[in-house]
Order: sequence, then structure tokens, then C-alpha cells
Amino acid sequence: MAASQRTASLRREFLKRGLAALAPSTLWPGAGHAQSGAATAAPATRPVPSTGEQLPLVGLGSWITFNVGNDRAARDACTEVMRAFFEAGGRMIDSSPMYGLSQSVIGEGLARIGAAARVFAADKVWIGSGARGPGQIEESRRLWRLPRFDLLQVHNLLAWEEHLPTLFAMKAAGRLRYVGITTSEGRRHREIESIMQSQPIDFVQLSYNLLDRDAEDRILPLARERGIAVIANRPFREGALLRGLQRHPLPPWAAEIGCDGWAQFALKFIVSHPAVTCAIPATSSVAHVRQNMGAALGRQPDAAMRKRMAAHVEGL
Ligand SMILES: NC(=O)c1ccc[n+]([C@@H]2O[C@H](COP(=O)([O-])OP(=O)(O)OC[C@H]3O[C@@H](n4cnc5c(N)ncnc54)[C@H](OP(=O)(O)O)[C@@H]3O)[C@@H](O)[C@H]2O)c1
Repeated sequence: MAASQRTASLRREFLKRGLAALAPSTLWPGAGHAQSGAATAAPATRPVPSTGEQLPLVGLGSWITFNVGNDRAARDACTEVMRAFFEAGGRMIDSSPMYGLSQSVIGEGLARIGAAARVFAADKVWIGSGARGPGQIEESRRLWRLPRFDLLQVHNLLAWEEHLPTLFAMKAAGRLRYVGITTSEGRRHREIESIMQSQPIDFVQLSYNLLDRDAEDRILPLARERGIAVIANRPFREGALLRGLQRHPLPPWAAEIGCDGWAQFALKFIVSHPAVTCAIPATSSVAHVRQNMGAALGRQPDAAMRKRMAAHVEGL
């Protein structure tokens, strides 16, 4: 194929399937390669139902872990976590104006690594007044140092009736790609359901993990029915879940689904639910981010194995 034809064909592919559908190594030279230079597999992906865009099963949270103030060493460490995340094929980073200096830490890291074109930027609006939403969003965008966000979510449903029209208008004007809402720790699930039923949102974010499984009854089935992507937050209950599990040996049968430890066990349980698009564990450690991204590799548990995993953890 001539070079011009190849370019036209790549462009058609890009337009048809979206940026993320291309192999990570096409977009990010380091993706799919360990730091040693040895080739590794790219993470498994799931489509965003409203567009078909593929997203890696594991993303990166930023609450607490990236709110490190202006300490130079701590900010450098966050950049290294982000670098390892992208090298492992990661894309979605989640933040909020609620997370202190996290947004500026992310913006600095993206600029230093040169990952602005690769990141799937998921931020939030979190302010009680609808009129002040656009100003907050603009300030967040400035801190992330990006031309636009991929996803904006109404954080914890705060003033959602006022913010959603702003977000839908931004999307219609091409200044935003996706609109979502968030909650955590099982709060206001009835209201979440009613918004999922009545509003054309693309994403819902909520807590879902081995012990917090309320969403299984109604919200996850509803997300599938309505074609809404699901982001699972607090996959490790802010770390407490893992600290509890690590007092016990990993069951030998965890090897059947390729888990190298409890973190992958916990993440594979979440991302193997058919309604879940991705989980967003937060970490301040390069070793942990690599481990977490490893949960998007290899065999995923089937329904019977998921049952076994949940029963085992409940029984500990
Ligand atoms: N309403 C909302 O919108 C909402 C609410 C809650 C959370 N969120 C989002 O969800 C993200 C995740 O939730 P979260 O931050 O509450 O907690 P989390 O991801 O459940 O847990 C984070 C903790 O787990 C530890 N950890 C991570 N990977 C590990 C590994 N492989 N091995 C051992 N420990 C590990 C981290 O410690 P190390 O630093 O030592 O790795 C950190 O202390 C947030 O950062 C935020 O982006 C959104």
C-alpha cells in the first residue's frame, strides 16, 4: 500500500473506532513494554457503550495519593507512578477539584512525560452553584494543562440538576467527550438509578469491590440495559481491604486466573463483572501501579470463579 493510502486508511480507522482502538504501541512508544525493554502484553479493554471506544480495564485514581502539596520529591514520585501507568498501557486518570493539589500534580506529570495525547482525562465538577460550574471546570482544565477533558462527572451528585445541562452543552459543542455522575460507599443509589433512567449520561462512577457489592442488585444491570459505562472507585476500600486480606495467604486457585497477589485478586473480581468498564485504584507506588495494571492481563474470572472469590473473602 502506498504511503498516502496507508495514511488515509489509518485516518479512516481513527475516525471509525476512535483513538483508543489503535494498538497502544502506535500511540505511546513505551506502552506494552516493561522498563527493561522486554515486550509485555497490552491491557485488556472494554468498550464505552455510548461510542464503542475501548478503555483499559484498569485506570488510576488520585484522591489522597496525588494530593502531595508542593514537595518536590513527592511530586516527582507521582510523575513516576504516571509514567509506569502509561508504560503499562494505562489511559484513564480520575481526579476532582475536591482532591487538593492532585489536579496540578497530574497536569505537571502529563506535561513532563508528554502524555497529554494519551491520557483519558476524567475530572469532576464539585460546587454547590450551577452558575459557578463553568468557572471551576475551566480552572480544572488549566491545572490539567489539557485542551479539553474526555469525561466530566458531577461529583457526589452535588447540584447535579444544575451541572448536567452545562456538561451536555459542552459535549454538544465538542468541548467534552463524555458526561457522567459519581457517588461512593453506597450513598444515594436510588437517586443514581433515577438519573441513569432519565438522563443521557455516558458514565456512572460508584464504589464496587469484593466487600461493597450493593451495586450488583440494580445499578450494574441497569447500566448494561441503558448502555452506560461504569467506573468502579474505592477498589481496595482506600487500602483497608488489602491490609485485611494480606493477613491471609492467597488461595492456590488464584493462580488459575493469573493473580500474583491480593491486589490483582481484588481488581480481577471487579473488572470481570460484565457491566464494569474499568476500576480506578489509587497508588503512590510504582511497584503497586505495575501490579494493578497486571490485573488487566491474562485470564479473567468467569461467573463461577467470581462467586468463589467473593465467598472466599467473605469467609475470611
Ligand atoms: N465520589 C467519588 O467520585 C469518589 C469517591 C472515592 C474515590 N474516588 C476515586 O476512586 C479512586 C480510588 O479510590 P481510593 O483512592 O479511595 O482508594 P483505593 O484505590 O481503594 O485504595 C488506595 C490505597 O490502596 C493502596 N494500594 C494501591 N495499590 C496497591 C497494591 N497493589 N498493593 C497494596 N496497596 C495498594 C494505596 O497505597 P499505596 O499508595 O501505598 O499504593 C492506597 O492507600 C480515588 O483516588 C478517586 O479517584 C471517587
